[in-house]
Amino acid sequence: MKRIYLDNNATTPVEPEVLDVMLPYYREAFGNPSSVHWAGREVSGAIETAREKVAALINCAPAEIVFIGCGSEGDNHAIKGTCEALAGKGNHIITTAVEHPAVLETCEALEKSGFEVTYIPVDCDGALNLDDIERAITDKTILISVMWANNETGNIYPIAQIGAIARKYNIRFHSDAVQAVGKLPVDVQKANVDLLVISGHKIGAPKGVGALYIRRGTRLTPLLHGGHQERGRRAGTHNVAGIVGLGKACELAAAHLQERAAHMRRLRDRLEQGIFDAIPEIKLNGHPDRDQRLPNTLNVSFAYIEGESLLLNLDMYGIAASSGSACTSGSLEPSHVMGAMCVEVSLAHSSTRFSLGHETKQEDIDFVLEVLPDTVQRLRDMSPLYDCKKQQNCATCQTVKRL
Ligand SMILES: Cc1ncc(COP(=O)(O)O)c(C=O)c1O
Repeated sequence: MKRIYLDNNATTPVEPEVLDVMLPYYREAFGNPSSVHWAGREVSGAIETAREKVAALINCAPAEIVFIGCGSEGDNHAIKGTCEALAGKGNHIITTAVEHPAVLETCEALEKSGFEVTYIPVDCDGALNLDDIERAITDKTILISVMWANNETGNIYPIAQIGAIARKYNIRFHSDAVQAVGKLPVDVQKANVDLLVISGHKIGAPKGVGALYIRRGTRLTPLLHGGHQERGRRAGTHNVAGIVGLGKACELAAAHLQERAAHMRRLRDRLEQGIFDAIPEIKLNGHPDRDQRLPNTLNVSFAYIEGESLLLNLDMYGIAASSGSACTSGSLEPSHVMGAMCVEVSLAHSSTRFSLGHETKQEDIDFVLEVLPDTVQRLRDMSPLYDCKKQQNCATCQTVKRL
């Protein structure tokens, strides 16, 4: 059976060059970088080299990079660490309704301990209105947190403009750039970002490693206390091999950014066009202007069918896609991102995300285009909603009719 992997926003394969540079750190170079003897010295240099590579990718100083365990940790650290460090200054956070749960649930937890959070809404395309952000600022606002790009729709947010607003009001600015890094140019200076999160497994490095950029001079309470690793900013013995792998993945991302993005964009556009040409009654979830979305991401609702059923049927052809974050949580609730975009509930349930990688081939896309229309039609033929559509008598069908 073919194996076509179109779920790169969930995770990416470790790149061969990344794995090659990691292996020695599991075998001969096994030392603890905090040790003063030869075994420790052997690996501490490798960590600093990796730090330089990560810093180069986002245009900051190596000393501003802290190695962490994953993107979720970075978001928690940035938000909770700011709230603790600046609690005397204010208790108000501004974020958006479409953030990853690593941000949203962190904010919700902080609300329980007395912080106030404004969740800025998005429009039906998932776009933000910058005036809403500026209007939400009060003299108690200590943090603005907006993702660089959305994991479900691929929508790219105007981070540099939001950074300018944060700078104007002297408010700290955090951006979850987990989906943007490696797919878009990310420059923390140009964007005026103070805190930024990278996750290794989204960019060809292994799971269990990431990086948090902390602008020099930014007071941030650590999340993990204990050892004095990372200059006291993140306790815990370093994941040396993972960090070395992250450094290599960042080096490769910097070297091939444009060419990889162009390749993914061409194939994503081919997929999008092919699906819209072949299948009626579908809805694009995300910005209609493809350039306002990540070059690898396409999210579509196929009316009358469940996204989960479509995924299982595609899986039988060896095609891996995703139906948004709902399936990963095992929840029957449609995704909060679809909800925030006012996508009608049954269409939200049918939303399907295809996220390409730089290793995706044209023949992979053509195979999806070959099997998808019949698969959708087969599922529609079995769907009670589709049956109901023929009678033209339910609210869902009226919504779908307007597509
Ligand atoms: C936008 C975004 N932020 C944060 C995360 C969490 O990253 P991690 O899986 O490394 O904890 C993800 C993972 O899907 C993501 O897409």
